[in-house]
Parts: sequence; C-alpha cells; structure tokens
Amino acid sequence: MKKLIDFYNSSIGKKVTMSLTGLFLCTFLLEHLIGNLLLFAGEETFNAYSEFLVSNPVIRFVEIFLFASLLFHPLVGLLLWISNKRTRPQKYEVYQLKENTPLASRITMLTGSLIFVFLVVHLRTFFVPLRLAEVKPSGYALVVEAFSSAPYCAFYVIALVFLAYHLRHGFQSAFQTLGLRTKSYIGLLDAVAFIFWFIIPLGFALLPIYFYFFQPATTAAATALGVH
Ligand code: HEM
Repeated sequence: MKKLIDFYNSSIGKKVTMSLTGLFLCTFLLEHLIGNLLLFAGEETFNAYSEFLVSNPVIRFVEIFLFASLLFHPLVGLLLWISNKRTRPQKYEVYQLKENTPLASRITMLTGSLIFVFLVVHLRTFFVPLRLAEVKPSGYALVVEAFSSAPYCAFYVIALVFLAYHLRHGFQSAFQTLGLRTKSYIGLLDAVAFIFWFIIPLGFALLPIYFYFFQPATTAAATALGVH
C-alpha cells in the first residue's frame, strides 16, 4: 500500500493516473454516444434505453468509477499543472511552449476546465432530473426541451469543439505515458485517436444541431424540474 501511495505521489504516478482515468472516460464517451444516437430512433426507443440505465445495477456500479474518474482526472491534472509551473524555469517554459508544443497540448488545461463547466451544466440538465427527481421526467422530452434553445445548443457545440481539442492531445499523450505508443502501433493508434478526437465529438454535436433544426415532437412533457 505504501509503495502504491509513493508511486501516486511521484510525478509519473500522477501521469499514469491521468492516463488511466482519461482512457476510462474515453470508453464512457464511446458508450454514451452510441446510447445517445438512439435519440434518432425516436422517443420510445430512447426512453427504454434511459430506463435501462436507471434500473440496471451493473450500470450503477460502473458509475461509481465513472464519477470517481470525473473527479480524479481534473484534480490530478490540476496538481500536475501546478507542480510543472513551480518547477519549470519561466524563460525555458515560454520558449518550450511557443516553439515546440502543438496548440492542443498547450491549451489542455484550458480545454479541460471548460469541459468541466460543460459537465456541471450537462449533469444538472439531464442526470439530476432523470436520477434524483421524485417524478421521473421523460429523457427524450428533456433532450427536445434543452435543444430547442439556440444559446444552449451553441454552448454544446462550442464545448464539443473544446472536447475535440482536449482529446486530440490527451488520447495520444495517455498512450505515450503508458509506453504503448511504439513504432509498430503508431498507425493504428493514430486511426483510433482520430475516432476519439474527431468522430465522437462530431457525433455528439449532430444531436443539438438535429434537435434544434428539426424539433421532433414528443408526447411527454419535460416536467417542472426540466431544463434551465
Ligand atoms: C451532445 C449530446 C449529449 C446528449 C444528448 C447527452 C445526454 C445525456 C443524458 C440524457 C444523460 C442522462 C442519462 C441517465 O442518467 O439516464 C446524460 C448523462 C451524462 N452525460 Fe451526456 N449527453 C451528451 C453529451 C455528453 C458529453 C459530450 C459528455 C462528456 C464530455 C457527457 C457526459 C455525461 C455524463 C458523465 C453523464 C452522467 C453519467 C450517465 O448518466 O451515464 N455527455 N447525458
């Protein structure tokens, strides 16, 4: 146990924590997108899926790791960022950042913080009413209601651009840290990375765009708790 704590306290231990929680969150994103694409199949199908998420005990168990990762990933990232700021000489840092590091990597802390803000708003809109309200609203109706607002849709699309930037750097960086970005796998990794940083955020962005412009009908109301 002491060895594990010592490892976590080291800089590499923190980086490994970031990589593992980040990759776990990427698998969540894939599952979440596939589930959300059921919105295109209509109200009944999506609400059945939403009901399954609420009632399935395995999902509830996995969610413990999901929320732990959602807390640990940004927290450890912040600690690493602070310790990097403290240890790196200022002049070297400026040179290093401007000349050698790609934009997606330089703004990882910024994109991560904005995704965190997005998540708070997102959970308030969907997760809180669907899980914690006494009278459960229809998941589909919540989505229709939320995406009938132009500012809300714009906020989503902007957040998804930030998510793309964040994953562009983060996905590759996780494999680098774990020592898995070797020459033999580099082509495969780049292809998988493209799916995660480009295709997945694009898939999510299609939802607010579709719901805003096509405004499908819903038989249920989003309920008073609804969307803010
Ligand atoms: C843009 C399209 C999206 C839609 C329509 C959407 C919809 C939803 C809905 C309906 C729920 C509640 C599910 C339930 O608890 O029954 C939910 C939960 C959640 N969403 Fe999203 N989501 C979207 C994008 C995202 C993105 C981009 C992220 C992460 C960056 C995200 C992260 C989460 C998390 C962490 C939860 C709580 C865990 C869970 O319920 O499984 N969502 N979302």
